[in-house]
Amino acid sequence: MGKTVLITGANRGIGYETARQLAAKGFQVFVGARKPDAAEKAVAAIRKEGGTVEALTLDVADTSSVNAAAAELAKRTDHLDVLINNAGIYPDEGVNILNVSREQLVTTFQTNTFGPIIVVQAFLPLLRKSKEARIINFSSGLGQLDGMSSGIPSYSLSKLAINGVTIMLAEALRGDAIAVNSMCPGWVRTDMGGASAPRSVEQGADTAVWLGSEAHQELTGKFFRGRKVIPW
Ligand SMILES: NC(=O)c1ccc[n+]([C@@H]2O[C@H](COP(=O)([O-])OP(=O)(O)OC[C@H]3O[C@@H](n4cnc5c(N)ncnc54)[C@H](OP(=O)(O)O)[C@@H]3O)[C@@H](O)[C@H]2O)c1
Repeated sequence: MGKTVLITGANRGIGYETARQLAAKGFQVFVGARKPDAAEKAVAAIRKEGGTVEALTLDVADTSSVNAAAAELAKRTDHLDVLINNAGIYPDEGVNILNVSREQLVTTFQTNTFGPIIVVQAFLPLLRKSKEARIINFSSGLGQLDGMSSGIPSYSLSKLAINGVTIMLAEALRGDAIAVNSMCPGWVRTDMGGASAPRSVEQGADTAVWLGSEAHQELTGKFFRGRKVIPW
């Protein structure tokens, strides 16, 4: 069996494009998505281009869904080479740090930060069976310490925290030779990024595809944009 990759939230946007590009490189791709119909639609589109791809129902904000997905994947493959924590939400329109609600903070962290931690825990047995496993966490320039402002509070804090998760996982998994990195795709034209973003989905997926396939295995515990290390 060739290299395997699971991408969360891969039914649309940058996750879909990352799935498409890795399938074109010969990966066996598992399209993680919380809505089975949306996953199957994405799978059908990538298969049309000749890729080896399957859907996997996975809601990163729901621990039982994550555990069920891990059990299901273990029936379909004996190892996982690459896990891409791409799923994310951006719900902060019109709120700032002075009025964001506790509920909003919790909801955003459940998907953007706690989700990836629980997903890594659940899929670790399969990742440990790979010779060169890699975990890629989608962060954002809005989570960079230098980029913090009073706006977009729950999203920015959730991405600041995912960078902490990356540092912690990289250390915890160094002994297993599992590389763990954060990346920012830049501002990308997706449902989240909007139509005026300067970058295409192809450009947005590039660093994730590179980290998942070509980057040196020794690169771990870092934050990337445009294939270059950037400050936390
Ligand atoms: N676009 C940008 O400019 C930009 C900039 C910096 C960082 N990022 C990051 O890049 C990643 C992808 O962004 P995007 O622009 O492609 O966003 P998008 O177009 O809004 O797509 C988000 C994806 O995440 C999925 N998702 C949301 N909650 C989920 C959950 N609980 N479980 C599973 N999947 C879930 C969505 O699934 P549904 O279809 O079911 O909603 C969708 O597939 C995100 O982590 C984002 O924060 C994006």
